[in-house]
Amino acid sequence: MSSRRLAHTSTPDYTMGYSPDYISFLTRIGEQKPSRFPIPHLAPGHNILDVGCGPGSLSIRLADAVAPGELFGVDIEPSQIDQARRLAEERGCGNATFQMADVVDLPFEDDFFDMVHCGTVLTYVPDTSVALEEVKRVLRPGGRVACRDMIVDSCFIHPELGLMQRGLEAFADLVTADDGHPQMGKDLKFHLQQAGFTDVAVSASFDVHHLPEEIAAFHGMIKGWLNGELARAAKAYGAATDGLLHEFGLVMEEWRSHPAALVGIAFGHALAVRP
Ligand SMILES: C[S@@+](CC[C@H](N)C(=O)[O-])C[C@H]1O[C@@H](n2cnc3c(N)ncnc32)[C@H](O)[C@@H]1O
Repeated sequence: MSSRRLAHTSTPDYTMGYSPDYISFLTRIGEQKPSRFPIPHLAPGHNILDVGCGPGSLSIRLADAVAPGELFGVDIEPSQIDQARRLAEERGCGNATFQMADVVDLPFEDDFFDMVHCGTVLTYVPDTSVALEEVKRVLRPGGRVACRDMIVDSCFIHPELGLMQRGLEAFADLVTADDGHPQMGKDLKFHLQQAGFTDVAVSASFDVHHLPEEIAAFHGMIKGWLNGELARAAKAYGAATDGLLHEFGLVMEEWRSHPAALVGIAFGHALAVRP
């Protein structure tokens, strides 16, 4: 992470926003590069909570793995709940229920779930310990939490073209300014231990996007961000200037048609047991 001084440090909003390009990028990942790591730990009949379910593409896979058990998906954003409900209906997924809720105040009784899945959500929640305390409360003893979060300082956009690393640093600065944790994937072990979970197991992986349609989708997402709310927030919080955003937009155009273009998104994963 860079050491630039940021103008703003306490905004509770969700940094990434919900632009159509970003949501379709996420949906695509959920369907084509799903994080399968929690699935071997699920069994038919389990009840699972998917926190920060977003558009629901991954939730539905988790729901399939526990049927006839139930999947409950929660998110702070109503449009995501609508989208996840629609997707479940389209796919005939009868054991998934979606509702609005914040991870720090979950509308479920104590000791209920066999697993809580937090897919790229702790990155954006200001107080990790409050979130994990609430996750622990709703897990039954012996139940597991499965987390997956980005490690932004290990991500790469290739070829470098002079500004890719700087663009990633600006993104990390924005997440930090928004009270998030851009390197959370590396800190999951620490936070889970601090929260009193046991048997903490960690690993890491890259989602690599390189096919023409993947390059187009990533480029579309970045272009949407550079022209929208995310760029305005980055400027307001001092994470990027107009000049940087403009230059980054130009190199992303060059990158898009570069024969070597690929992007690697680094993730840390952790599984742990509620004692
Ligand atoms: C990067 S998306 C991940 C979506 C999905 N889990 C996936 O992996 O495709 C993060 C989601 O977390 C949600 N979120 C952010 N803060 C939250 C909070 N405090 N409680 C519940 N959901 C939250 C956002 O609205 C967003 O839909």
